[in-house]
Amino acid sequence: MIFNRVLVLCLAAAILTGCQSETISSGSTRCPDRLARDERMEWFRDARYGMFVHYGPFSQWYDWYVSKTLPNKAPEGATPEQRKRWYVAGLTPQRDFARHLARTAKAAGMKYIVFTTKHHEGFVLWDTKLTEFNSMNMGPGFDMVAEYVKACREEGLKIGFYYSLWDFNHPDGIASKHDDASRRRFLDYTQGLLRELMTNYGKIDILWYDGPSPLGYGGEWEAQKMNAMVRRLQPGIIINDRSLTAEDFTCSEGHISATLHPDSDWEACMPFHHKLWTWYPADYKNYYTPRDIVDMFRQIVAGTGNLLMNVGPNPATGHIGNVELERLAVVGKWLEAHGEAIYGHVDRPEALGFITNDAGGFWTRKGNTAYLWLPKWPGGGKIVLENVHGKLLSASIVTNGAKLGIDRAPQADTETVKNASRVTLTGLPKKCPDAVCNYAILKIQFETYPR
Ligand code: GLC
Repeated sequence: MIFNRVLVLCLAAAILTGCQSETISSGSTRCPDRLARDERMEWFRDARYGMFVHYGPFSQWYDWYVSKTLPNKAPEGATPEQRKRWYVAGLTPQRDFARHLARTAKAAGMKYIVFTTKHHEGFVLWDTKLTEFNSMNMGPGFDMVAEYVKACREEGLKIGFYYSLWDFNHPDGIASKHDDASRRRFLDYTQGLLRELMTNYGKIDILWYDGPSPLGYGGEWEAQKMNAMVRRLQPGIIINDRSLTAEDFTCSEGHISATLHPDSDWEACMPFHHKLWTWYPADYKNYYTPRDIVDMFRQIVAGTGNLLMNVGPNPATGHIGNVELERLAVVGKWLEAHGEAIYGHVDRPEALGFITNDAGGFWTRKGNTAYLWLPKWPGGGKIVLENVHGKLLSASIVTNGAKLGIDRAPQADTETVKNASRVTLTGLPKKCPDAVCNYAILKIQFETYPR
């Protein structure tokens, strides 16, 4: 929300008054033969962890958050064209910016990236034929989307396109709410841009819509027709729900609600800075720590969702700031040891919730295997589990593979149901075996469905 306001103010105060748009014919309304949804979703369900990249001219306006002033002003009496050039002038990505992002994501254990091909401001980061306000024509001087796609392919990452439906640059972007002719032009423009994105860059894995303003529900966006065109051009693509139709998966923003989406695929997008999506090279105390991110995994896995962790690269280089880089690397290292509990097919741990533990740990599950996540390591060398009804086959520490002992409650205790179902895991080392985040996971294999 804050960011939206900032953008609106920056733009209203300074910049975009008009640009050319062409009327183009919209896509086919015929829904293509789709791959089965499960087949399309398979990689996403296994991936669990991706990088969200917010990068564009808006990346320059971070000073606004500190001083509430713009870093500089558009020249007095500037023409609309000059204002646009001024607006994007500070966006100067190095040619290798995308490779840097993709390599960072890969090393951090992420499996896909979602990149802002066009944010609310309307600046198009690819070689479009539909507006002059694009990264070939002004600012960077090259097709940033092409670089991004190439870099993802080099690193074997899945490719996501963020696309903001909201558009402050297009002259009909606001008027389309009330005027039919404006709406027609704006929808044709929107569908034309999407057609370029879906045609010119080979296979694309995710279309991640955002900002469905100013139009609303009830078909105003022609979302069904628009997404049918997208799927015709990209039969394997998965699409989020922000064009105001359900499509393939839903997303929560800035929070993780493991119990919120029991019946749908979902992803939580989280800004590294608690509130801001863009570059912001200060205020690190408000950045999530590696342990925070590990704890996000715990909630994500429990809810069988995905985590899309945002970075806001430096407008001058396209590179991620050092604090995020360091923290992402730490999380990547932690994942090297604990990835088996995160990636791949996971199940909801509902029945495990009845098993209490005296270490303050949290359960996740994969089939008959239960994982006990331990934000605090218990000092006493053992963990007591109560209300265990399944048979345990083995217990170990995921962090280092060390085997644990399994003690059933002694006979004397079996008079009460509670103690009869007690299991004590023994042989835990005194200190947490995870030196990376001080956050270890135990793995307990049950003979049948664990409960
Ligand atoms: C918020 C922000 C927007 C960002 C989006 C990501 O809506 O205002 O800038 O792209 O979150 O989900």
